[in-house]
Amino acid sequence: MNRTIRPSETTSPTGYWDRYGSGVTEEEPPEEALKNAFGWCQYESHGPGDELLGQPATALELGFGRGNAVAALATKGINATGVDLSPVQYERAAARWGHLPGAEFACADVCDYLAGAAGQRWDAIYSIWGAAWFTDPGRLLPLVFDRLEPGGRFVFSHAPPAPGAYGPQGMYGAGFTGRAVWLYRWAYEPEDWSGILTRYGYVDVDARIRPAPEPDLLGTLIATARRPTGPPRSGHGGLAFQGDPPVGEVLQRGVGGLAGHAGGQAEQDPCGKP
Ligand SMILES: C[S@@+](CC[C@H](N)C(=O)[O-])C[C@H]1O[C@@H](n2cnc3c(N)ncnc32)[C@H](O)[C@@H]1O
Repeated sequence: MNRTIRPSETTSPTGYWDRYGSGVTEEEPPEEALKNAFGWCQYESHGPGDELLGQPATALELGFGRGNAVAALATKGINATGVDLSPVQYERAAARWGHLPGAEFACADVCDYLAGAAGQRWDAIYSIWGAAWFTDPGRLLPLVFDRLEPGGRFVFSHAPPAPGAYGPQGMYGAGFTGRAVWLYRWAYEPEDWSGILTRYGYVDVDARIRPAPEPDLLGTLIATARRPTGPPRSGHGGLAFQGDPPVGEVLQRGVGGLAGHAGGQAEQDPCGKP
């Protein structure tokens, strides 16, 4: 758990996230960690909380990081599961919160996990600056849709896109002097997310940038959407994805593939969350 993973030793996105996880120190006692555990914004005790999930009996977090949000939901009696790619994050979260009744952690890529969870459904699936930001929506959105109960909610948050930079944004996960490890983040304006989610069959879509505690600071993009209670209109809004990413007809900005204006950045904290 205390191992240090240096940038030059990063050979894969998993290694990148392990390194990220190794750098996150957990000093608060569990009771303190649980107090403000559930939040969508990068500012502590700011913005909406778990009410955006509705009143789920079951919830799944995509990219749980420290696992605090999963733990917080479990303490409320929700059957909360989290999936994260990073063995470092997984080991730490499972050791810290795995004893809580209703809290479960899995170590996997979200797409693999959702694809392998046939027959299983959740009332709410959510991602807090997590895997929903780092996964091609052309792959993720249909998988999430299929794993939601009818009427179930999908909620995610991430940083607003840098103006003019939409679609997949590239990062060099091992720095400019390390191995060639690429990571991508998908950034869209709220109206673009609304269009994308609607195209994939989601309803009651609300994507917006919530203001920061101070006017000059960066806000937070939060999107909420629901799987319809009835059958989908035409299977994920008529879009299918399997190695054939839909071109962003709605947006003309490239959904799914790597056709956006990718901005390469090295060694940045991809999240900036505390
Ligand atoms: C920036 S952190 C956010 C963690 C946490 N949600 C929080 O708010 O602190 C992103 C997390 O998503 C995980 N992640 C990124 N891509 C993933 C993927 N494809 N599948 C599963 N987890 C992923 C990373 O391992 C990391 O723990």
